[in-house]
This record gives sequence, C-alpha cells and structure tokens, in this order.
Amino acid sequence: MKVEFSAFPKAFSGNVAAFVAADKQLLATAQSINKDGTVARAIDASRFTGAKGQSLTVLGQAGTIARLTLLGVGKNRELDARAAEALGGILAAEANAAGQKAVSVAVDPVKGSKLTPGQIAARIALGAQLRTYRFDKYKTKDKPEQKNSLEQITIFLAGPAEARRAYGQLEPTIDAVFFARDLVSEPANVLYPAEFARRARELTKLGVKVEILGEAEMKKLGMNVLLGVGQGSERESQLLVMRWMNGPKSQKPVALIGKGVCFDTGGISLKPAGGMEDMKWDMGGAGAVTGAMRLLAGRKARANVVGVCALVENMPDGNAQRPGDVVKSMSGQTVEVINTDAEGRLILCDAMWYAQEKFKPQAMVELSTLTGAIIVALGHERAGLFSNNTPLSNRLRAAGAGIGEKLWRLPLGPKYDKMIDSEIADMRNVTNSRDASSITAAQFLQRFVQEGVAWAHLDIAGMAWSNKGDSTTPKGATAYGVRLLDTWIAENYEK
Ligand code: BES
Ligand code: MN
Ligand code: ZN
Repeated sequence: MKVEFSAFPKAFSGNVAAFVAADKQLLATAQSINKDGTVARAIDASRFTGAKGQSLTVLGQAGTIARLTLLGVGKNRELDARAAEALGGILAAEANAAGQKAVSVAVDPVKGSKLTPGQIAARIALGAQLRTYRFDKYKTKDKPEQKNSLEQITIFLAGPAEARRAYGQLEPTIDAVFFARDLVSEPANVLYPAEFARRARELTKLGVKVEILGEAEMKKLGMNVLLGVGQGSERESQLLVMRWMNGPKSQKPVALIGKGVCFDTGGISLKPAGGMEDMKWDMGGAGAVTGAMRLLAGRKARANVVGVCALVENMPDGNAQRPGDVVKSMSGQTVEVINTDAEGRLILCDAMWYAQEKFKPQAMVELSTLTGAIIVALGHERAGLFSNNTPLSNRLRAAGAGIGEKLWRLPLGPKYDKMIDSEIADMRNVTNSRDASSITAAQFLQRFVQEGVAWAHLDIAGMAWSNKGDSTTPKGATAYGVRLLDTWIAENYEK
C-alpha cells in the first residue's frame, strides 16, 4: 500500500477521514465539512462520541466527498503513538471492508496530544500498514473482494516533510513485523529448521552476521539436551546465531534467545489431535527474535545485539527421545526428561548456555511459546515475564506498554525451584503436578543463567497468535515481541 503525505488541499474529495475529539467536538476539517450541520446530525443519530478509537462512516457531500469517516481522538492527551496507530488500523480495515482503493485522512492539530501532527500522521500510516498484512500465498482462488482493495492512503497535514521523515524511521518496523509474521504463519512442511535458518540468512544483506550450526557442531559443543528434542525428526536441528554489532566497542552485547520449535507434536508424550495444527507457531519466540534482529539492522541501531534461536522439530519416532531418558547439557548439568512435550525448556537451556559462553552478554532476554498454563493465567492480553532483575523487568514492561505489547511479571523462588529436583539427575523437565507450571518452567531456565547476567524469560504462548486480531494486527501471527525488543534496546542501549 502506498502512503503519501501532503499539505491540506483546497477542497476534499473521494473517501476522507477527519478527527473528532471527545464529547462530539469536531476538529477543523470535520467542522469545515459540517457547514450545513449534516455531520453533527449524523453523529447525534449514532453512538459515536469521538471517544478514543471510535469510528463512524457517514455519507459525503454531493459532488465532492464520497464517504466521510470520523475518527475519535478522545480527550486531552489520549492520542498517543499507540492510539494513532490504532486509528490508522481501524481506517484501513474499514476502507478494505468497503472495497475502497484510496482514502485520505486530515490530521488536524490535536490539542493536548504530546505528538506533533507529523508524528500522528506517521503513526497512522504505520498502523494502517500493520493492519493490512495478509498471508495469502497459498490461496489460488481468492475473489477480488476477498483481497485488500486499499492501494493508497493520503495523509493531509500542515508540514508533510516532518511526517515523511518520521514515517521513514518507522518503515523498517513494517518490514520486520511482516517478516516475522510470515515465519510464524508458514506451515511446518514448508518451514522446518533448515528453511527457517535459510530465511534468516537473508539478514546478511542488511549487515547482520548469520551463522548456522548443524547437529554435528552442536554435538561437539555438548548440546545434548537440545539435540535430544530433535532426535525423532527427519529434519536436522539448527542453531541460528545472528550478530548485529553496531554499538560502541566497549559495550557488552545484549542476547536475545528464541524458542524455535517448527512443529511440536509433543514427541512420545504425544499431544491430543484437536488443535495440534496450532503447534506450527511454536517457533514464535524465534520468529520474534529474528524479526527484532531484522528491525535493528533495518534502522541501523547503535547497539550490540546477538540473537540465538534453537530450531527443532519435536516428533515421535523410533529414534525419538523417551520419557525417563537422562541427557547432559552443554552446562554440564543433567536433565531427566519426564515429559517430551516440555521440550521448549530443553532446547532453550543449551541455547542460553551457548549464548552466555560465547558472547558474555550483559543481559539476556528469552522469548518462547513455553506453557499452555500462561494462557490460563493471562489469556491473550499479556505475556508472562520472569526475571532475576527488577530494573530489567521494569524496562521491558515500560517498552511493551509504549507499543502495546504488554507484560505481567510473575514470581520465582527457591520453593518453586525445588519442585524440579530429580531423583537420579540434577533436575527433571517437569514437576509431578500441574501446579504453577509456568513458574516451574521458568525455574528450569533459570538454572542455566550464569552469575551476573540480568535475565528475563517472556512466556508468549498466549501472544504469538491471535484468533481475533486487534486494531493493528489481523487474525493470525502477531509478531509479538519484535517491537518490544526493538523498543527496549532503543530506550536502554543506544544512548
Ligand atoms: N508449545 C507448548 C506450549 C503451548 C501450548 C504453546 C499452547 C502455545 C499454545 C509446550 O511445548 C508444551 O507442550 N508445554 C506443556 C508443558 C507441560 C508438558 C509441562 C504444556 O503447556 O502443557
Ligand atoms: Mn510441547
Ligand atoms: Zn512447545
């Protein structure tokens, strides 16, 4: 979709959107269109009040405006970056539903908003783009009305040059989010570990150093716990290592770790058939990390960041790992595999250890679709956050709040840790009850965090995929985590 920023025209035509503030306060453009009072009358005949995020489409005017969409900007200060993105998303969805090819928006100055019209305009464009993502490459019979109709969005404001600049800085976000959504949407017959790694290799073009370790190399490094998970699959397990070192030489890197289970059958502890197809997106953590690396490189972030993704397929097979097997990790600690379906923590413990040994990071943030229990606890509104470091937790939460990727911190502690002790090895991969199972999963990971490393685990099982979508995310893969990681790095490591 093409985006254009332009000064206000002498007269509006076509499909136009204009702002209305809380309590039906028409801003300049809406007011100028309301000369004969019809716009105000249409508002009075509806539930629309101008509250943040509301929209109302009414008839235009004879000979000029075709359809007029009123966008609610709410009260003073309510129109922040996220709210402006939402308006863009709502407008784009509305225009596509109506089959419009082009739409324009008038960005009048909004009293009390911390954003300039240029920033509001850029965020509207970003939101509109993010909302119109589609994964339709396998549809061969779509009728035109099932496709996106919207080809162009024109944003009118005083000072379009500033908006163009601001939008230019946001464009790498669109690219990275779409890249991550594609990875997460692909079915597992197409996207297996080596194919994921191959697609990540494209980041080389942006200046990311990409290294891919196969099973033989991981075997040499002693990553037996990771390898045990992929043992039942025909597809080779991979460790994807990405480096973006554009910060000061003296800055210790930040490590991003991703769970990349390209398909999770549960292994010998087989999952029930119903809904198992969802497990194609059990690589959402790796998708977010790879997307974040793409975004950092796309906008040339002044920071040192490494991304490490454990890519495997968890299958039942004659060669598959059995419940009760004991495996030795790269750290030297041994694990009794009680349940082969608790495979995320198994691949992550070796990936985390590798990242710490190799890169000595100052902080390590790991993302995984780790437990169904986190969905029971937090639903699809917030990811679970576990950390050994309160300042790090707070910074991650602040970054997420700003861009609408929310987090909720849950506890860790020695009593939970004890629950994963094993009779015959250093630890078991699950407890013998379902109690606190998101927490005990995090405790397992914490046993692989080295002294002095600020660590956070984000359980994104409820966030990687959306069955209902929201203002800037269509149904399906969300790319949750891409913007969160990027924003956290921008706010804390680039100063
Ligand atoms: N990939 C799943 C977790 C999951 C469930 C992600 C639903 C997204 C939606 C993970 O590998 C898993 O199977 N976890 C088990 C752990 C259990 C065996 C301790 C679970 O949550 O049931
Ligand atoms: Mn599993
Ligand atoms: Zn899994």
